[in-house]
Amino acid sequence: MFSTTNFLKLNTGAQMPLLGLGTWNAPKDRIRAAVEIALMEHGYSHIDCAHVYENESGVGEVFAKVFDGGRRREDVFITSKLWNYDHAKSDVRVACEKSLHDLQVDYLDLYLMHFGVASPHGQGIEPDDKDGVLIPAKVSVRETWEAMEELVRDGLVKAIGISNFTAPMLVDLLTYTQITPAVNQIELHPYCQQPRMIEFCQQLGIAVTAYSPLGSQVEMNGSKPALLDDPTIQRIAQAHGKSPAQICLRWGVERGTVVIPKSTSPEHIAQNADIFSFELSEGDMTELAKLDRHLRYVDPYEWWKVPYFD
Ligand code: A2P
Repeated sequence: MFSTTNFLKLNTGAQMPLLGLGTWNAPKDRIRAAVEIALMEHGYSHIDCAHVYENESGVGEVFAKVFDGGRRREDVFITSKLWNYDHAKSDVRVACEKSLHDLQVDYLDLYLMHFGVASPHGQGIEPDDKDGVLIPAKVSVRETWEAMEELVRDGLVKAIGISNFTAPMLVDLLTYTQITPAVNQIELHPYCQQPRMIEFCQQLGIAVTAYSPLGSQVEMNGSKPALLDDPTIQRIAQAHGKSPAQICLRWGVERGTVVIPKSTSPEHIAQNADIFSFELSEGDMTELAKLDRHLRYVDPYEWWKVPYFD
């Protein structure tokens, strides 16, 4: 039942499963059930976590249970992410150790810098000033990255990477890295395709993970169009006898990206795992390519008033 195919080889030599379960915005009790059925009933072997999701201890309870009963730690790829308030050299290791503790594991397969901005430690998740603008901390990305490299050397994490990095941020990072990032995790779906960014990362040997591959959570998207209601995606889904979500995920893996759909619904978790038994045609890919509208469901400007991706 637990598939050993469908992996992407990272620049570390490790194999990263193309499909993972995302865990953002799922309360602890719901994430526990979701992670358990994903790992034990549907063959998932990759769980994408983050300290800032505030549910790692729930995920960790499941890891403690399943790594004793049915799954082997070394067969499950576990990612976590360093939050903005832990960017200072003295905080990076403590933050990583906190995630390891909460997840009840003794190493991570991948640790990502969640965003390339630092905020002060001890002032909440998203401290802002009187105008609602994120308060920055005087910590450079270089300081953070070099502290993350230490985590690899000391065996706390197998690989390190970045998330929400733009091309100029990446170019700068590569001027001093001793360890090339293994992954850049960015928003990707048919309404936000970023083909040039994917190509750029891949040429540098950096794998790309697609977050929000289903167009994120409709209830959080305000007036933005719902990806899964798109008529073209629905038509292609109908032609394949698949769901719109399966088409978006299949499209992601056919572009050579890792996909990490979030779900706490048993039915969706099962459905999202069934994307390796069919292929999209060239015609489907051409139609889907036309849907790009550079639409970000996850736009930090809306929370921080920082025009991060402008
Ligand atoms: P649910 O938890 O009820 O499954 P993304 O991964 O792009 O952020 O999208 C997450 C959203 O997509 C969640 O609201 C999740 O809701 C929903 N979702 C996940 N899988 C499916 C699916 N197969 N069909 C429809 N909606 C899905």
